[in-house]
Formats: sequence, C-alpha cells, structure tokens
Amino acid sequence: MSGMNQTDVPPVLVTGATGRVGRLVVGQLLDAGVPVRALTRRSGAAVTLPAKAEMFTGDLTVPESLDPALSGAGAVFLVWTAPPRTAEAVVERLATHVRRVVFLSSPHRTPHPFFRQPNPMAVLHAGIERLIAATGLESTTLRPGMFASNSLAWWAPAIRAGEVVRWPYGAAETAPVDDRDIAAVAARTICHDGYAGGDYVLTGPESLTQAAQVDAIGDALGRRIPFEEMTPDEFRSLWEGAAPSSAVDMLLAAWGAAVGQPAYVSTAVADILGTPPRTLRQWATDHATVFTKDS
Ligand SMILES: NC(=O)c1ccc[n+]([C@@H]2O[C@H](COP(=O)([O-])OP(=O)(O)OC[C@H]3O[C@@H](n4cnc5c(N)ncnc54)[C@H](OP(=O)(O)O)[C@@H]3O)[C@@H](O)[C@H]2O)c1
Repeated sequence: MSGMNQTDVPPVLVTGATGRVGRLVVGQLLDAGVPVRALTRRSGAAVTLPAKAEMFTGDLTVPESLDPALSGAGAVFLVWTAPPRTAEAVVERLATHVRRVVFLSSPHRTPHPFFRQPNPMAVLHAGIERLIAATGLESTTLRPGMFASNSLAWWAPAIRAGEVVRWPYGAAETAPVDDRDIAAVAARTICHDGYAGGDYVLTGPESLTQAAQVDAIGDALGRRIPFEEMTPDEFRSLWEGAAPSSAVDMLLAAWGAAVGQPAYVSTAVADILGTPPRTLRQWATDHATVFTKDS
C-alpha cells in the first residue's frame, strides 16, 4: 500500500476492533478510504461499528477461526489481550495471508523505571514481537504509554458522583497518550510505505503527576476535583475481583517507580502525524460528557 484513498487497496483486518484503540483505527482507515474488516468474537447485533466496516467473527484463541477474515486481506492491525497459548499459530497464519502487520505493544524496552517493573503484559507483548520478527512479515511495533482513556475506568465514576478521587501514588508522573493519536499513528503506519521495521514509543506531550491529571480533567470540566492519596494496600483491596491482581500489582509497581521523576515523553506522534500529540486536557474536553452526571 503506497498511500491512502486508493480503490484497489486490499482490506485491512483490524483485530480488537470493538476495543478502545481498534474501534478508532477502524474509523481512521474508513475515513481514509481503506476497506476495513473488523474482527470480533461477539454476535453482530452486539457490535456498534460503522456500517462500512465488514464484520468478521473470529477468536484469537481459535486460530483457524481467523481464516475467512485473513483471506484476501493485505494487512493486519494486531491487538492481543487473549492468553498467549495460540499466539504462535495466529502469527503463522498472519504470515501466510498478509504482507503487513502493525502490532499494538507497550514500551517495555524503554529504559525508564516506569516501564521496567515486573509486567506480565510486557512479557506477552515481547513474546508476540519475537514471533512476528521470526516471520517474513513487514511489521511495525507501536508502544503507547498510559492511555488517556484509562481515566474513564479509574476516575470517571468518582468524578461523576461528585466525590473525591482517591488514588495511590498521586505524585507518580506519566505522559498519557490520547487514544485517537495512537489510532491515527496505527492507520498511518498501516497504509503508508516507510514504516516497515518501525518501532515507536507513543506518549502524550507532557509529564503530569496523577494528581495533576485529575486537575487537568477538572480544568476541562470547569470545576476543581478533590484528590486524596490512598495507600497501595487499600487500592489492592478496592480492585480485588474487579481487575486481575497481576495487573494491579504491575500498576502499583510502575507508579511507585515513577514518583519523583518526569515521565518518558517521545516525539513519535508528532514525527509520524506532523501534528503534536493531544494534551490530556484536550482529551478530557472532548470526553467531558463522560464525566458529567447525566451521561
Ligand atoms: N491501557 C493502557 O494504558 C495500555 C498501554 C499500553 C498498551 N496497552 C495495550 O493495549 C491493548 C488493549 O487495547 P485496547 O484498550 O484498545 O483494548 P480493549 O478496549 O481492552 O479491547 C480488547 C479487544 O480485544 C478483543 N479481544 C479480546 N479477546 C479476544 C480474543 N480471544 N480473540 C479476538 N479478539 C479478542 C475484544 O474484542 P471482542 O470482545 O469484540 O471479541 C476487544 O475488541 C493491550 O494489549 C494492552 O496491553 C494498553
């Protein structure tokens, strides 16, 4: 694929198409005139994606279920949140059918303490990267840091209820990246030449403590949101049953390591898109309704 807006481009299979990033990648590709195949395990009725996206049912844990979606596709946007067991068989299948893969990974190679803590997801990502590298696929690795949209699950419920945001490691600094910027980079690197072999750490434009991030959301909403520090143990017990303990421990370790030092900030979004990454305040302004009571 040498550029967008071509009528003869083979379709791109978007995995994770119902998820945060994949859904936006579907939109970006369609806007650019690229035919999209959207993968989901769900029944069609349960999925709200643009009608122009061709829906395919498939499951990464059942590699052969991907064949109809892969047959005739030119590239794949790969999001892996499934267990690792079938990754090898799936990557082999991708290599049989398509030329390009853009993989949504994480910045586990970045030498910043935040990214160097024990992290089962990073182990999974590294394994998939190795599998992809062992094929002849043209690949691009995208390594976003913290998604701006994490605050939807983390802080929006308290903000909507008009309560104090209670959170551990308020002084930990991260550089939240807008999901729309991740998706725009994904679409660009899928559809334009020059990104094969590319490996990009994607961050937002600024290092902000978690407490300052809550302030930025408050600025976007036009009101002050009170923030209160919570102990890591309290956080563990609050999230017990709601999130895997390995994910909770991973976050606590990363935040703990990020106190007192600026977050890693990259120029990759601006380099690839030609526009600066969106700020968290911009993200919050554009998602303000999610933080208001009536939403
Ligand atoms: N959150 C962060 O701050 C952050 C930072 C860096 C990297 N990441 C990485 O980003 C990825 C998650 O992206 P996201 O937040 O956009 O995803 P998400 O919103 O969690 O959605 C997960 C997607 O994966 C699909 N899926 C799950 N299991 C599947 C399976 N067995 N077969 C096929 N599809 C399956 C789901 O589709 P259906 O349910 O429709 O089948 C859904 O579309 C993870 O790899 C995560 O490690 C996240």
